[in-house]
Amino acid sequence: MLKPLIAANWKMNKSIRETGEFITSFIRMVKDVTDVDILIAPPFTSLHSAAQLLNKTGIKVAGQNVYYEEKGAFTGEISPAMLLDAGCASVIIGHSERRQYFSETNEIVNKKIKTARKNGLDVILCIGESLDEREKNETFEVLDKQLAGSLKDLQLDGITIAYEPIWAIGTGKTASPEQANEVHTYIREWLRKYNPDSERVRILYGGSVTPENTRTLMAQPAVNGALVGGASLKPDSFAKIVTESKS
Ligand code: PGA
Repeated sequence: MLKPLIAANWKMNKSIRETGEFITSFIRMVKDVTDVDILIAPPFTSLHSAAQLLNKTGIKVAGQNVYYEEKGAFTGEISPAMLLDAGCASVIIGHSERRQYFSETNEIVNKKIKTARKNGLDVILCIGESLDEREKNETFEVLDKQLAGSLKDLQLDGITIAYEPIWAIGTGKTASPEQANEVHTYIREWLRKYNPDSERVRILYGGSVTPENTRTLMAQPAVNGALVGGASLKPDSFAKIVTESKS
């Protein structure tokens, strides 16, 4: 069985001071947890201080986005080397908010993953269908396109997939555990066909994960962890999600 990964996506929330306050109380709450991998993705401005505070705790820090060029005249962008320099071990790529508000296509996502992997960053690739697509029974077709486009010409080492149905993000509507398991099983099969060496790839569920629904989601055999937005902003709530994820 794969060790669960519980990841916090703070999105555009928390100052450096708030990041410090969160981490100071959170590490106390999870100090005895060894059977769950934990990762926190703060905004860029908090990465360095988060990484310093989490040093030697085993809790990893991730960027929420990265650019696909290595350096140069790309005002406002952050390179993989800069994320590493700030103390990141990984980066979230292709989140639905990036796809929706910043026009990120599967081609862009693919370029970003390539540059991130080339520089040694692990990647959490986000995929997921909209409500409209689900209602039109297009979920698997959408996922096929996202997976094929985003992973084109890539090996799967260092890659985690986060299945985040867009209709469940920040809405309080979680996919039912059975819905999540069905899609995760589909993604697992897709990965197996793509590359027989895919068994170590974790598939996380994301979308309105809370301390209350973590246990049933994590009990699904094809769910290997969670990517948590809103419920990761308070240390006690995120710590509860971590402890509820233990098998
Ligand atoms: P949510 O966000 O937990 O607030 O739904 C999840 C995500 O967008 O990664």
